Amino acid sequence: MLNNFLLLGIESSCDETGVALVEVRAGQAPRLRAQALHSQIEMHQAYGGVVPELASRDHIRRVLPLTRQVLAEAGATLVELDVVAFTRGPGLAGALLVGAGVACALGAALGKPVMGIHHLEGHLLSPFLSADPPEFPFVALLVSGGHTQLMRVDRVGAYEMLGDTIDDAAGEAFDKSAKLMGLGYPGGPALARLAEQGNPAAFALPRPLLHSGNHDFSFAGLKTAVLTQAKKLGPELATRKADLAASTQAAIVEVLVKKSLGALKATGLTRLVVAGGVGANRLLRSELNAACARRGIRVHYPELDLCTDNGAMIAMAAAMRLQAGAQVADTAYAFDVKPRWPLDTLVAAA
Ligand code: KG4
Ligand code: ZN
Repeated sequence: MLNNFLLLGIESSCDETGVALVEVRAGQAPRLRAQALHSQIEMHQAYGGVVPELASRDHIRRVLPLTRQVLAEAGATLVELDVVAFTRGPGLAGALLVGAGVACALGAALGKPVMGIHHLEGHLLSPFLSADPPEFPFVALLVSGGHTQLMRVDRVGAYEMLGDTIDDAAGEAFDKSAKLMGLGYPGGPALARLAEQGNPAAFALPRPLLHSGNHDFSFAGLKTAVLTQAKKLGPELATRKADLAASTQAAIVEVLVKKSLGALKATGLTRLVVAGGVGANRLLRSELNAACARRGIRVHYPELDLCTDNGAMIAMAAAMRLQAGAQVADTAYAFDVKPRWPLDTLVAAA
C-alpha cells in the first residue's frame, strides 16, 4: 500500500470538466494542492439542457489544459504523480470515456496505476475536504441532478442504501420546475434565487411520500403539480413566478428534511452529511441546520464550491480509498466506464 503519494483526479461525467491534485502523507488527512474546473453551462444554455455529444467534445478540449494548469499551480510535474484517478460512472457514456481515456493514457505513459472512481462516492466524501470534516458513521443525503438517496455510511466503501427516489431526483424537480417557469438551465440555482422574493405558502403543492413510512422519495408528481399550477395561472404566472418558485422549493426542502430526520431516527446515528449539487441550496441548509440542532445532530456539508461536480472530490475519494487499504494494481488500462452504477454495490477497501 502507498503511504505518501500524489494523486491526480479527473471528473468528466456530465457538464463540468474538473481536475485536481491531492497529496497524502502517512497518518494525515489528504490535502488538496490545486484544482481547476471548466463549466459547460454557457455552452448548453442555448439548448435548455446538456447535449451529450457537445459535452464529450468539450471535455476533450478542456481536460489537458486544466491538467497543466493544476500542475503549474501546485508547482508539480506529471512524473511526480503516483496515481491517476478518474470518474468511471455513473454519467454520460461519451463524457466518461474522455476522462477514462486521458487517465489511462497518462497512467500508461507514466507507468503509474489508474483508479476508476464512483461519481457519487466522490460527492459523498467531498465534505472530508471541508474545514469541519465528518467522522464515520453517518447518514448521507445525496442530492445531485440525477440522484436522491439516503445512505448509511460506516466507512469508505461501506454504503447501505436506506432510501432512493422511485422516479425523479430532487435536482430534477428543481430543474424541470424551473424550465417550465422559463428560468433556463440549470434551473436549480435560478429557481432558488427567485424563491427568495416569493411566498413559500402561496401555493399548496404536494409533499410526495412524506408519510410513506420508509425512506424513499418521489418527485415526479410534484413537477406535474407545478405544471398544473402554472397552467392555471396562465398569463398571471408572470407576476406570480416568485411565489410559485418559493412554494416549489419549500415542498422539495420539506421532504428532504423530514426524510433525512426519519433515516437518522431509524439508524440511531447522530451525524448527517449532505452532498451533491442540491446541497448548495440555502433553504435546505438552514432548515436542516435548525431541525438537526434541535435534536443534537451534527450536519456536515462540502464547501459551497465543492457541492457541484469537481475534480477534487474524485481525487479525494481515490485518496481515501487508498488510505483505507485499496490496492492500486490496475495497470491494465482497460478503460471501461459504467454509465449506470449503483453506489451500494461498491465494496469497502479493507
Ligand atoms: O451534483 P451535481 O453538480 O451534478 C450531478 O451529479 O447531477 O448536481 C446538479 C444539480 C442540478 O439539478 C442543479 O439544479 C442542482 O444540483 N443545484 C441546486 C442548487 N445548485 C445546484 N438546486 C437547488 N438549489 C441550488 N442552490
Ligand atoms: Zn455530481
